[in-house]
Amino acid sequence: MMELEKIQNTAIIGCGVMGFGIAVVILNKGYNVVVVEKDKPSLERGLEYIKKFYEGTVKRGKITKEKADENLFRLKGTTDFKDIPENSIVIEAVYEDIAVKQDVISKVEEVVEEDTPIFTNTSSIPVIEISAKMRFPERFLGFHFFNPPPVMKLIEIIPSLKTDERYIKFAIDFAKKLDKDPVVSKDTPAFIGNALLIPFILEAVSMYEKGISTPEDIDKACKLGLGQPMGPFELADFMGLDIVLQIADNVFERTRDPRFSAPAKLRELVSAGFLGRKVGRGFYDYQKPKPFGVEL
Ligand code: 3HC
Repeated sequence: MMELEKIQNTAIIGCGVMGFGIAVVILNKGYNVVVVEKDKPSLERGLEYIKKFYEGTVKRGKITKEKADENLFRLKGTTDFKDIPENSIVIEAVYEDIAVKQDVISKVEEVVEEDTPIFTNTSSIPVIEISAKMRFPERFLGFHFFNPPPVMKLIEIIPSLKTDERYIKFAIDFAKKLDKDPVVSKDTPAFIGNALLIPFILEAVSMYEKGISTPEDIDKACKLGLGQPMGPFELADFMGLDIVLQIADNVFERTRDPRFSAPAKLRELVSAGFLGRKVGRGFYDYQKPKPFGVEL
């Protein structure tokens, strides 16, 4: 198995909201990052946002221009899995759909060494299900960042029934190297964070549907009364309503747990394409889309 200290390279599959943030976290820690996207437009969009994000942090005086340029120098983008370098850690952060995840992971397995750690940023699908078709599932586990990855300290580490102990230790050490604080969770749908958060958000939407209060007032109650940084509607818009619904449906499908039964209002907004901040409208109206949830 590869030694963590000798690894310089990471590959991130998918450069959407999470892949983008994960790339920033890892670049900030001095690793080379290769971002793999499905097509040229998605790749260009992802790379452009990473560049703009660094421009913003330089403008706000958070890092120097030299440091930002140095980080960007270590970033490469590709649409070809063969460009994943030897001795990489691979993190899959594509759309929360088991078929899509299995497809990219099989492409990764075709090009990397047998002992390459392959991690998934799944937010709700059991790791063992994603790894069902893998040739070497013992090197696979959940490595779940929270949004926005550069800010949130938590990483959930989720070993499957087949994960080798050495990879669990490796993942914990890697999370700490990224300056994150890991927790280990059993491989159940939605793990720890989302298993608590999603029923909370769905309950808030039900309250709104029942006319108990408005999104504005429910958010205010949670911020001013419960000390939360964002209320459930703001947070759902920030995460993406499609993501919230997808997590709820993924868990409900597997457990039939009524706490994960999505209210009609959420499904309606998603069907209308009102997916939250990234498109400029969700529970709230925004002036303009913030594609990666970031004010650039
Ligand atoms: N990406 C990267 N960095 C971001 C960011 C983003 N989307 N949004 C904010 N930041 C950074 C800012 O650049 C700023 O950094 P700086 O201090 O270096 O300049 C810092 O965060 C603070 O930002 P702001 O001052 O603009 O805003 P706030 O102080 O209001 O904090 C927040 C913003 C951190 C997003 C805060 O509102 C918060 O903690 N919200 C709750 C987030 C949360 O609960 N996340 C979990 C969601 S569930 C999840 O991720 C599970 C997954 O499976 C879906």
